[in-house]
Amino acid sequence: MARTFQGDVHDDLRLFAGNANPELAKEIAMTLGVELGRISISPFPNSETRVQIEESIRGTDVYILQPTCQPANDNLMELLLTIDAMKRASVRQITAVIPYFGYGRQDKKSTGREPISAKLVADLLTVAGANRIVAVDLHVAQIQGFFDIPADHLTALTTLADHFKQKQIDNGVIIAPDAGRVKLAEKYSNILGFPLALMHKRRSGEGGREVEAAGVVGDVAGKNPIVVDDEIATGGTVLEQVAVLEEAGAKPAYISVTHPVLAGAAPERLRHPAIREVVVTNTIPVPAEKQASGKIEVLSIAPLLAEAILRIHQHRSVSQVFSAQQLVFPV
Ligand code: R5P
Repeated sequence: MARTFQGDVHDDLRLFAGNANPELAKEIAMTLGVELGRISISPFPNSETRVQIEESIRGTDVYILQPTCQPANDNLMELLLTIDAMKRASVRQITAVIPYFGYGRQDKKSTGREPISAKLVADLLTVAGANRIVAVDLHVAQIQGFFDIPADHLTALTTLADHFKQKQIDNGVIIAPDAGRVKLAEKYSNILGFPLALMHKRRSGEGGREVEAAGVVGDVAGKNPIVVDDEIATGGTVLEQVAVLEEAGAKPAYISVTHPVLAGAAPERLRHPAIREVVVTNTIPVPAEKQASGKIEVLSIAPLLAEAILRIHQHRSVSQVFSAQQLVFPV
């Protein structure tokens, strides 16, 4: 039976949801044994966003759940306006729980005269009035340092790895999709006891947007590969990777990613026969029409977020959630 925290939660913890992922917020509320706060978020006739908090929250610790996934700008604006409304309603503390942190891919200049959007979004959240943020698997861990407020960085790694443990896959191999994800792949390899192989990724085109999986280093022939990454956006990268793995004699691949962005042609691309299963979490909702491939397994991140919220609220260690699972993760 799923673990719940009913009875542990005090009246001064309030959880609210924006429109980006209300189902996840409901699951977290149920796990915590709280009611979701009453809030109305709707467009003005001129397309601006109107936010109204419909209950008193004076003196409370509020948590607002809102991934800044598609439509990214609307969801971000909802989050900023809600934080502003909360601040002006005299709360004690505002925590923005952002399971998927949009604009995270723009964490540095890749050509001249570009913004560093991740830094700007961090600043906007702080100026709006957030006292703390909670995020899951940021695109790069250093985004945590873009915030001048505490930023608790969680990982879905154990949620995903546990799924593969239960599948009891024989002859597996963990695939790091590029040099930047070797550490992540090593953690999977330690948990699942599979060897590691590394893909060589070449970027080209403006801002390095064209990705080519140029080869794989390590023994994959006849094995069951598990490709690990933070997100699938358009699915282009995954398609390149599974083609290289197939060419190297691997069996159809499992894909393990935290964030199912699934933009554009991604749902269609996942139909490729060299992909066996795509395991994701519900940091971003996966509507039925994006399940086209029938290969997407969605795991819930609600238990992890509920536990993190409760620990933050009770001033208890959050990193202990992971150390209890034998994972060293610097929250
Ligand atoms: C890249 O650095 C990321 O970790 C993912 O591999 C990338 O975001 C996937 O993008 P797409 O699915 O559009 O190829």
